[in-house]
Amino acid sequence: MKLLVFLGTVRDSTPPRPARLGVRVAKACLACLHERFAEHEIELIDALDYPLEPVFKPHFAYAGGKAPAALDRLAEKIASSDGFIMISPEYNHSMSPALANLLNHFGSSLFSYKPSAIVTYSAGQWGGMRAAIGMRTFLSELGCLPVSAMIHVPRAQEVFETDGSVQAGEDQAAWFDYFGRSFSQLLWWVQAASEHRRQRDPHALIKSFNRDPSQRNAP
Ligand SMILES: Cc1cc2nc3c(=O)[nH]c(=O)nc-3n(C[C@H](O)[C@H](O)[C@H](O)COP(=O)(O)O)c2cc1C
Repeated sequence: MKLLVFLGTVRDSTPPRPARLGVRVAKACLACLHERFAEHEIELIDALDYPLEPVFKPHFAYAGGKAPAALDRLAEKIASSDGFIMISPEYNHSMSPALANLLNHFGSSLFSYKPSAIVTYSAGQWGGMRAAIGMRTFLSELGCLPVSAMIHVPRAQEVFETDGSVQAGEDQAAWFDYFGRSFSQLLWWVQAASEHRRQRDPHALIKSFNRDPSQRNAP
């Protein structure tokens, strides 16, 4: 299976310290995936690598192959993936605006019928769980329904080093067991959805809503 791991922090400022705390959370997730789920193809999509225009123009709004090449490439990656891991900090009890903005550039038809897993973190004690609740709604609307087991990392700066390894006093196996619960759930659904997509093409069965509200089939 092919999974995309989205990292939703572009913050390059202090305070609060450290900047881009999410990099170490993403590295820890990748280390766990490579150690315990090595048979799958994993690719990191870092929101920092996708500087977006201040005026919002989603990928699907460009006509005739005129979309920026970086958006085209990312659309292809999303289309050819089987599932997603969405890593977000919590800002004002909400998901990262950088992650929401990046995801908003692509239509739900690229994400739909492929499951996702939610990973949140914070510098404080709640691990981004309020952001995670909102992410369930957001990802459901994109059609990449999130699995129930979520990952929250409170005080991530005290758990992971900058390279993603655990700090002294932390139990790496315990963290990987915790991560692994979500990733195992995700991969169960990813495999099930992938097999069923092959048997019955959902896009042939249920038309995408990509032009106007009448496509929702509401009477
Ligand atoms: C604008 C802003 C809002 C924040 N809001 C919250 C919050 O609601 N809950 C929380 O636990 N931490 C909050 N924080 C602290 C973040 O958890 C902390 O800065 C973390 O490092 C952010 O991740 P990042 O460095 O990868 O961007 C906020 C930080 C910023 C910059």
